[in-house]
Amino acid sequence: MEPITLSYPPVAVLMLVGPSGAGKSTFAATHFLPTEVLASDEFRARVADDASAQHVTEDAFALLHFTLDLRLKHRRFTVVDSTALKPSARAQIVETANKRYVPVYALVLDVPLDECVRRDARRTDRTVGEKVIARQYVTFEQARRELQKDKSLAGVQVLTPETVHHAQIVRGASAVSGNRFDIIGDVHGCYTELCDLLNDLRYEWGEKDGLPRHPEGRLPVFVGDLADRGPDSTAVLKLACRLVAAGLALFAPGNHDDKLFRFLKGGNVTRTHGLDRTIAQWDALPEAERNTLTTDILTYLATAPTHLVLDDGKLVVAHAGIRDEWIGQHHASVKSFTLYGDVRGFEPGTNKPVRHDWASEYTGPAFIAYGHTPSPVLEWQTDDATGRRYVRLPIVNGTVNLDTGCVFGGALTALRYPEHELYSVPARAVYAEHEGLPYSLTEGFQTPEQGVY
Ligand code: UTP
Ligand code: MG
Repeated sequence: MEPITLSYPPVAVLMLVGPSGAGKSTFAATHFLPTEVLASDEFRARVADDASAQHVTEDAFALLHFTLDLRLKHRRFTVVDSTALKPSARAQIVETANKRYVPVYALVLDVPLDECVRRDARRTDRTVGEKVIARQYVTFEQARRELQKDKSLAGVQVLTPETVHHAQIVRGASAVSGNRFDIIGDVHGCYTELCDLLNDLRYEWGEKDGLPRHPEGRLPVFVGDLADRGPDSTAVLKLACRLVAAGLALFAPGNHDDKLFRFLKGGNVTRTHGLDRTIAQWDALPEAERNTLTTDILTYLATAPTHLVLDDGKLVVAHAGIRDEWIGQHHASVKSFTLYGDVRGFEPGTNKPVRHDWASEYTGPAFIAYGHTPSPVLEWQTDDATGRRYVRLPIVNGTVNLDTGCVFGGALTALRYPEHELYSVPARAVYAEHEGLPYSLTEGFQTPEQGVY
């Protein structure tokens, strides 16, 4: 039998559902860390030294929910191992999770009644008894039906005794099974333009959580440099964190993000190149919001891999690019390359890096989308059929640089993959000065030999 993949975002609540003896605790122990599992009987034992003490149910669940809330505050994946048979029990879990903007997935262990009873009778630790299990089973059959139409859940899956041993859990960015992405160039705090671009790409903003989702399940992928120089870095970071946490976006870190992470971890960094502006925006946030954002950034963004390998290896997203032989590796040299590019020393008498044009030598099979260095010239195009506006960009050996210098008064650009269509929105202002820019719309565009979007 083929493995059954259960995919979850990096932070989520997995709510196990099933009567006693269905194998919830066995499943949890097989697939998750002990600290990730909150089991109701363990909380009964915590408050009354007896895992089957029914009279302490209310207090046991109060403690379970208190712990769940704190785990979600610290952005930890959490499994709730309780029967979750009654709608009120499930609603309470959803409520605790929703307060922390964390999605809840249900996993139903659908085991026949006589098998549950048989397993229970064989238990050596504690037994629940046939009468209780038979009673639970009536509620369970109802729960199974109710769950299929429960809109408060991010997903519902069912495993039976035949399928449970073939289940494999995938979490985080590697949980992405789709192959349709909207890869977004360097945002640098241009929150308004980011919203403009997502709207152009036809994302719809959720009424409940305010998060943009594409009706066809496409995922935004950020090439990094979310922060610095621009007008609202904290809003961009907040949105990116919430999207990544919910499994609704992917992120490859850039050098500016990396510096911000080091700053947030208490590192001694120079407040130059627009970091000063981000810190000022940071300091202006209310304290509680600032603390939450720090936790979120250190959990979701600062722990992101150096680059993303997507669509079965056919697509790679790396902030400043990558060498073919390093794809899929994450050692220090890879990190330095993906953050800063192929830096070959510094210009004499300055600390300006000499950036080698790695793309011109790239010969690998994967398509590489990156950013980091703003395009020197912008040539706007309009697609006559759809009205779509975009900045023409060169494709060099199957690589494309999506940084169209929004923060310097250029544009914010996304590449729709696998369609290979560009979308760009113009900057609403020049937010930062760049010595070689601002852009001139009248300058000619040199068509490279390798092709052009
Ligand atoms: P569990 O203790 O995992 O069930 O398994 P549960 O759903 O968490 O039950 P409650 O709600 O806490 O009461 C019950 C017994 O069944 C065996 C386990 O070893 C355990 O003794 N078991 C579990 C199997 O024999 N096969 C399985 O596939 C799973
Ligand atoms: Mg159990």
